[in-house]
Amino acid sequence: MSKLTFRPMERSDIPLLSGWLATLPLLQRYGFTADKAEAALEEALRQADMLWVCDTGDTLGWACGLAWVMPRGGLGRSAYLRLLVVNEAYAGLGIGAGLLAHVEQLTPRSTKDMLLLVSDFNVDAQRFYRRQGYTQIGAIPDYVLPGVTELLFRKRLAGP
Ligand SMILES: CC(C)(COP(=O)(O)OP(=O)(O)OC[C@H]1O[C@@H](n2cnc3c(N)ncnc32)[C@H](O)[C@@H]1OP(=O)(O)O)[C@@H](O)C(=O)NCCC(=O)NCCS
Repeated sequence: MSKLTFRPMERSDIPLLSGWLATLPLLQRYGFTADKAEAALEEALRQADMLWVCDTGDTLGWACGLAWVMPRGGLGRSAYLRLLVVNEAYAGLGIGAGLLAHVEQLTPRSTKDMLLLVSDFNVDAQRFYRRQGYTQIGAIPDYVLPGVTELLFRKRLAGP
């Protein structure tokens, strides 16, 4: 792999990103289609959410990962990590950790915490987030999908 760079997502990334997101089993389970992903990313751009992608600079030719943060999306007070995904062909190379650290650093200084939800069945992602300094602080049964509990994770980004 050649050089990895992080850059803000642009409108022109949305069609390819949406097509890719719609192929991911996790997102399919949550009802994501390419059309829904496209509409959601367009709206996120309008709302000035933080949307960062990772470029590999090699033959993939497009973003291999996406981090989406809503700056006040966590109970109107904290940043909320809406989505973190890395293309399977690039899994396990530290891209997810790098993208996450990047968006954490870019949250305004007044943002004290990052919150996120992770599905109870997504044990790999739970392990990933714990390793990045997140702690489970709650659980919301049947919140998005019937029969699935969403685990609420938190990381303190700044001192009190
Ligand atoms: C979670 C994810 C973003 C991590 O990205 P990454 O670049 O592979 O992560 P890193 O290389 O920094 O860290 C590797 C860790 O990611 C986790 N991971 C690896 N493959 C994974 C997968 N298919 N699904 C979930 N987590 C995975 C594991 O904890 C792994 O650690 P391990 O080697 O001890 O098993 C990425 O695997 C992914 O996109 N998963 C599917 C979507 C998802 O579950 N997102 C999080 C919920 S929104």
